[in-house]
Amino acid sequence: MQLSRKIEVNALAISQIKHYHKKVKKLTYKMILENPEIRAHYEAIEDVQGHMAYHGWKHVNNTVENAKKLLPILNLDNEMQNAVLLALALHDIGKDFDEAGDKEKDHGYEGMLIARKMFEGFDVPHKEELLQAIKNHSKASDNTNSLLGAIVCFCDKLDITQKRVTPYGIEVGIWYGHVIDLRFEITGDYFIVNFICSKDFDKENFDADKWVLKMQACTENLANQLGKEWKFQFEQKEG
Ligand SMILES: [Fe+2]
Ligand SMILES: [Fe+2]
Repeated sequence: MQLSRKIEVNALAISQIKHYHKKVKKLTYKMILENPEIRAHYEAIEDVQGHMAYHGWKHVNNTVENAKKLLPILNLDNEMQNAVLLALALHDIGKDFDEAGDKEKDHGYEGMLIARKMFEGFDVPHKEELLQAIKNHSKASDNTNSLLGAIVCFCDKLDITQKRVTPYGIEVGIWYGHVIDLRFEITGDYFIVNFICSKDFDKENFDADKWVLKMQACTENLANQLGKEWKFQFEQKEG
C-alpha cells in the first residue's frame, strides 16, 4: 500500500475519532484501539504467511499489555503514562507488507506522519517525543535520549510470549511459544525481566535467536535511563 493510500485509510479513522469525541480534547490509546478503521488496518497485517509472529492487532495489544505491567513500577505521571500507551497503540500504524511478505522500508517514519495528522485538534502532552518514539521504535540505539522512546522500544521488542505465536510458529516450535508470561520488576540496583516458561522452553534456542540481541539492547537502554543494571531471569513451570 502506498503511503498516500495509508494516510487516506487512516484519515477515515481520524475523522471518526474527531466525530465521536467532539468535546474530548485528550486523545487516549483506548480511542485509538476502539476505532474500527484502525483495528481493520491492524487486522489486515496480522498474520503474514510464513511468519512465526503476529505483526498487527494481537501484537499491538500485547505491547500495550507489556506497558501496563511495566508502568506501575516506573513512577511516571499520568501524562507520560498516557503518552506511552498512545505511542504503543499507534507504533505500527505505518506498517504494511508487500505481496512477498516483506516489510516496507521505514514503517516507523510513515507511522509518525500518520500519527502527526491524527493528533491535529487534540491536546497531546509530550507530542514531539511521542512522535519520535513511534518513528524510532525499531531500534534501541535511536532511543538513548528518550525515556518514552526507550519504553516503547522495550514493550515492542519484548512481545515474545506465546500470545504472539502464529500457527506456523507453533508448528516450527519457536522458543517463545513456550514463554507463558513476562514479569518486570525493579529490585535494588536491577531492572529484571522474568520469563515464565513452560517445561518445553529451550534456553539454547533462546540464546541462538538474533532477536534476543535486540531484546537485550532495548532492555539495557531502558535500564540505563532508569539508572539500573539489568538481567533476564527464567522460571520454568512444571506440567
Ligand atoms: Fe514495528
Ligand atoms: Fe511492533
